[in-house]
Amino acid sequence: MKRHELSLLAGLLLTAYAAAQPVPLPNPGIPGYQFPEPESTLMQWINQPSAAHVRNIHRHGWGLWAALTTPSGQTEYGLANAPVYLTWLTPDEVAALPADAAANATSAAAAAPRQMRLRVPRQFMRIPGFMEKLQARLVALSQSQDQSARGVRDTSSFEMVGYDPSAAAFASKNQLFSKTALTKLYQAGNASIPAFPSTAVTVKPVYKLVSKANMIPGTSLYVMPAWPGTPKPTPAMQSGGFPEEAWPGCVYIDAKNPGRSAAQSADASCSRPSAANTFGLGDFIRIPITAANAALFSSLAQNQLKQPVEPGDTLILMAMHVTSREMTEWTWQTFFWTPAPAKPPLPSSVAVAQARPAQLPWPAAHYAMSIGYQMVAPNQPVNGGKSVGSPVTVYNPYLEAGFDSSVFQPPPPLNVGIYNPKTKATFRGTLGIQSNCMTCHSGASVKMDSAVKRIGYATNFYIPRNAPMFKGNLQTDFLWSIADGVE
Ligand code: HEC
Repeated sequence: MKRHELSLLAGLLLTAYAAAQPVPLPNPGIPGYQFPEPESTLMQWINQPSAAHVRNIHRHGWGLWAALTTPSGQTEYGLANAPVYLTWLTPDEVAALPADAAANATSAAAAAPRQMRLRVPRQFMRIPGFMEKLQARLVALSQSQDQSARGVRDTSSFEMVGYDPSAAAFASKNQLFSKTALTKLYQAGNASIPAFPSTAVTVKPVYKLVSKANMIPGTSLYVMPAWPGTPKPTPAMQSGGFPEEAWPGCVYIDAKNPGRSAAQSADASCSRPSAANTFGLGDFIRIPITAANAALFSSLAQNQLKQPVEPGDTLILMAMHVTSREMTEWTWQTFFWTPAPAKPPLPSSVAVAQARPAQLPWPAAHYAMSIGYQMVAPNQPVNGGKSVGSPVTVYNPYLEAGFDSSVFQPPPPLNVGIYNPKTKATFRGTLGIQSNCMTCHSGASVKMDSAVKRIGYATNFYIPRNAPMFKGNLQTDFLWSIADGVE
């Protein structure tokens, strides 16, 4: 029995424990937003992209964000009234659910006191030498004498994945984290796992830990890099990507200020903290670490950090990937914290920011959104389309910007580029800053035939569901966490 199964069992026995229930996506009461939106409506917005339809798509993304960040009324990870998304189970927790608890899947697991298992983003593991570089950096940091703002700034982020209760129940019922179950599906002639229900939502939140280790000595100022906006691709990025270490500016957080600030900008020089670039903890969706909940974060300290997670530290939400199964190719939107949310840099835009509904409360309104419900523009059909038109760039600075060209090699998928019939030029993205969620996730699959190659990551081009490269693979309905979970 694995350790998480044991703790699950312990949790089930601890019936007196105040159990959080995974909370379904609530209705945030935003006029014009509904969930799930019928696929036919979404397809109309995507295929007839009038200004009004584009605004509808933006409103849908913000509606999901408002719902996800709504206070749940539940205590989770020691945080009272935790945002809804925090109550959702991780793939490991879903996989550990007892098979006969499927019907009641979500409540069974939630009875256990949950450990918050944050980790270095798993997609980074495909960057050759990533872990070695990370370890070397942590060692260098702990030995560094450089106490300047740039010297102490925090370039590490941690992620986890969450499944909404309907996605969790579906994955559990169909044993989607079992290689045996998936192999049976493949052997029965299926090209894909069964489709998730239209209410399925999965998220990938990304955090930083505000702790003393990354403060300017003698102050309560925590320092982190500030995203400067999508840069022009350079030759150096082909081998190094554009990770946080390469971002030139900084922002500061006064860890003594639990409230919000009036700050609106970044410090381009990373050397001059001021009221204009020093934020409060209240400007972030966050989880304060206290004496009562510190133990729930011990795996972060053991596996990812060189220092313990201590009472007084704060986990701040920097970013979140969000996808929903309202349509065959899922909806894709991502959120990242930004100093001036009305004027966010690329890959967000002022137009996207202007679609923020009035119902979006602070600090959820402090985040920028990048959104795209198609691989190329104009949109192509699920099958039978062509990789033509313009790229649709949708990514998160905290997750994809660090990807250099080696992450997307070797094929499959073969990068066919996107041919633009008007300019007669072919766009061929090779970097994370040129990527599209739907393109990369369309490849999510488990290799079932030893004669074929495992499908890897892709930047941005059109991939149909019936692409020949899927032969010998079982598609996992766009979810990489299922493909990764069984391999
Ligand atoms: C280059 C490939 C790639 C790109 C581009 C990409 N992802 Fe992912 N994504 C992954 C992988 C691999 C995982 C699973 C492993 C992990 O936890 O990192 C994942 C996990 C996720 C999850 C958790 C559920 C799942 O699929 O298993 C969500 C939600 C998600 N991504 C959304 C997005 C969104 C939104 C975007 C675009 C803004 C995006 N992704 C771009 C590779 C990618």
